[in-house]
Amino acid sequence: MNTHRLAVIPGDGIGREVIPVGLKVIDAAGDRFGFRIEPSEFPWGCGYYLSHGAMMPEDGLTRLRDFDAIYLGAVGDPRVPDHVSLWGLLLPIRKSFELFANVRPIRLLDGIDGPLAGRRPEDIDMMFVRENTEGEYAGIGGRMAVGTPQEIALQTSVHTRRSTERILRFAFDLARARRRRLAHVTKSNALQYTAVMWDDVAAEIGRDYPDVEVRKLHVDAAAYQMVLHPDWFDVLVASNLYADILTDLGAALQGSLGLSASANLDPTRQAPSMFEPVHGSAPDIAGQGMANPMAAIWTASLLLEHLGETEASRAVFEALTAVVRAREVRTPDLGGHNRTIEVGDAVLGAMAA
Ligand code: NAD
Ligand code: IPM
Ligand code: MN
Repeated sequence: MNTHRLAVIPGDGIGREVIPVGLKVIDAAGDRFGFRIEPSEFPWGCGYYLSHGAMMPEDGLTRLRDFDAIYLGAVGDPRVPDHVSLWGLLLPIRKSFELFANVRPIRLLDGIDGPLAGRRPEDIDMMFVRENTEGEYAGIGGRMAVGTPQEIALQTSVHTRRSTERILRFAFDLARARRRRLAHVTKSNALQYTAVMWDDVAAEIGRDYPDVEVRKLHVDAAAYQMVLHPDWFDVLVASNLYADILTDLGAALQGSLGLSASANLDPTRQAPSMFEPVHGSAPDIAGQGMANPMAAIWTASLLLEHLGETEASRAVFEALTAVVRAREVRTPDLGGHNRTIEVGDAVLGAMAA
């Protein structure tokens, strides 16, 4: 029997509520399709920080390295500054493991009344490809004369040709496997160095993909078009910050952040890829048992696909979409009154059926 070693980091807030539900679904999929998941849970996050002074132990990354995949909930707690918590756990995993492709599906599921009037599931089906290791998130900069009128803050964005090429190639390949349309999102009217390099590299790589239709958009216009003409989009590719922002817009188009899944992939498979919902720790609803676990469950389906458990991945996604379609069991973010656990049980029930 195939065994997959899974590092589990529930993290903070609703991460600790939705990840146990996702794990139950993964386990049930294993029982049904004949594989075993061997989870190791790491209690890292803001609670750990408050008692240990660090978000994870010093050798945390080394300890994660040998797993087959990482399943993470969310990081962030009002008691710890966000830049401290995120730069202490989530961002170092993405960067040091070179999980360079952050893939985020945006689909309006049948049974969800999205915010765009008249739009149907077939109109909203995109795949975001986010550069996940550098760009605006390079983490290079500093502050001088802090708190004085002369204060200067620098946050340098770094775009290397190597990373730009690999993410664009990944996006072109994905477009080729889908509807052969790629939206290349930059801001090369204002950012004459970094974004123009992205445009140059896209044009060069695009010559290898004459069958893929490329549309070049500035990020502001992309936000506008995603709302007015979502049906045009298939695969979108953008640098780290732009895609971060546009994927929350995408989550809104899906009807809730509680439905938005993501995979942080190392397509070379040298490091464990990490799977996490797009949403954060949601301190406004944490601890109430009301968080929507659907994003975590969809993310579990992406995880299983990555592990090669294709049938199980499909079964999880089909069970999830069946529950959504039935409109019976849903959490308050989707207008329902059910609890996190009840949604999980409904998905487990649909899987068993
Ligand atoms: P958030 O995603 O946590 O919440 C935004 C809004 O969406 C909130 O109103 C929240 O209640 C709602 N929401 C999110 N997920 C939901 C779910 N599953 N079910 C129902 N409602 C849901 O974003 P935020 O408020 O900007 O950030 C809160 C904290 O999370 C911050 O510390 C932030 O840094 C962190 N954060 C972490 C991650 C991550 O670890 N991947 C992602 C985003 C934000
Ligand atoms: C996301 C989150 C993170 C990001 C934050 C928490 C650092 O918003 O995964 O979308 O910006 O990448
Ligand atoms: Mn985000």
